[in-house]
Amino acid sequence: MLEVNILAIHLNSTSNILMPKPIIIKKEIKKFDKKIKVDGDKSLSIRFALLASQAIGKSKANNLLKSEDVVSTINCLKKLGVKIIWDKKKNFCEIYGNGLNSFAYKDNLILDGKNSGTCVRLLTSLLINSSKKIKIVGDKSLSKRDMKRIIDPLSEFGATFYPKYRNTLPLYVKGTDNLTPINYIESKGSSQCKSSVMLAALLSPGQTKIKCKHSRNHTELLFKYLKIPIKIKKGRNFDIIKIKGKKNFNSFNYNIPSDISSSAFFIVLTLLSKNSKIVLEKVGVNDSRIGVVTILNKMGAKIKLKNKKKYKGEKIADIHVRSSNSLKSINCSKKLNSSAIDEFLIIFLAAARAKGVSYFKNLEELNKKESKRLDWGSKILSMIGVKNQIINNHSIKIWGQPNLKLNKNIEIKNYLKDHRVMAMSSIAALTLGGKWKIHDPDSIKTSFPSFFKIIKFLGGRYEVN
Ligand code: S3P
Repeated sequence: MLEVNILAIHLNSTSNILMPKPIIIKKEIKKFDKKIKVDGDKSLSIRFALLASQAIGKSKANNLLKSEDVVSTINCLKKLGVKIIWDKKKNFCEIYGNGLNSFAYKDNLILDGKNSGTCVRLLTSLLINSSKKIKIVGDKSLSKRDMKRIIDPLSEFGATFYPKYRNTLPLYVKGTDNLTPINYIESKGSSQCKSSVMLAALLSPGQTKIKCKHSRNHTELLFKYLKIPIKIKKGRNFDIIKIKGKKNFNSFNYNIPSDISSSAFFIVLTLLSKNSKIVLEKVGVNDSRIGVVTILNKMGAKIKLKNKKKYKGEKIADIHVRSSNSLKSINCSKKLNSSAIDEFLIIFLAAARAKGVSYFKNLEELNKKESKRLDWGSKILSMIGVKNQIINNHSIKIWGQPNLKLNKNIEIKNYLKDHRVMAMSSIAALTLGGKWKIHDPDSIKTSFPSFFKIIKFLGGRYEVN
């Protein structure tokens, strides 16, 4: 029997160790039995900040994610004249909104989204009635990502983008005070695209109508909670959303739950470690986000959600996981893609240790993330000796090896500092053995600054080289 450690750690990510050098992992993690609390949800943190900037009065969030993506969002809002007090030690953030269309547009304003697609794609919508031309920039990874998906609908609302026909950052946006509502069809299953149009609809007179493939629905739930005029008709494949714009709303308080996407790394770490158990406390388990739990349970994991609660429309629960030595392969329904979109890399690792051949299909969006994640997943599986095949640039077959153990050196570098490639590689190292050298471990700060502290807390060993 394992000694049960029920001490929950409430990690203060501001005191994290700087790690500009590669990390070396050369020991598998030993058995553990712990309770942890991972960092706040990234999607909800960014949405809180953006909506609070449009509300009237002081909004307050507890447990806002202290990651670089959220810092970029907050810094952009500050540059737009929004007063923000973020006390990272006391773990709260106050945002003083002045209502819709209240940003202060200075000359030659440059907004830097750094690595965050969510920041740029959602924030740009709030600039479509700007009186001045605003430059939007991002880091190397973000500058490769498609912006046409928001330029098209936002141009229909009336905004202008420069240079014409450019679909990546850096870009300039210029708004208009003559916005018109639009009818929009979102067919990628992208919540960023849907949410971008929903935020633009807030600023536009009349009714915007969106027909959208299912994707994470945090923006809808927040609109409902804030009593923004929204109507949603749920369909089998598509939802219809109608929003009436130009209605100011009041400030609000919000407790950000833990991020299921960050939790996923520790769920799989536990599944693939021997005789271990973990409880992840107070995780956001919105139905549109828990594809990872559904997929892993279909593969034979016995992940349980306990202590379920509802909070302002969102579902929260504690996630209980135990080691599994009998994972089986999956032919994954494409219907689960959008609810697990950020978790596929770590799911591929689970499939690499499952019995049989797994098949994940229609994942074209995966190669459009911070790095080409489908290609990176395949590359890492090949490095660890797991046969896999990418089909038509959007699907992957993985021949699992339940008893896989490594006895070689592996180096992970030049991955555009994609935080999820970094985290997946670290979990692979801790569960497979071998000697891993992983460059740019700081990349994890994009979404999950407490990652290495939790690894240490669970007994995992790494060296900074
Ligand atoms: C996000 C939506 C997802 C996800 C991203 C965050 C969001 O992107 O990959 O990390 O907060 O809306 P898409 O909606 O474009 O798939």
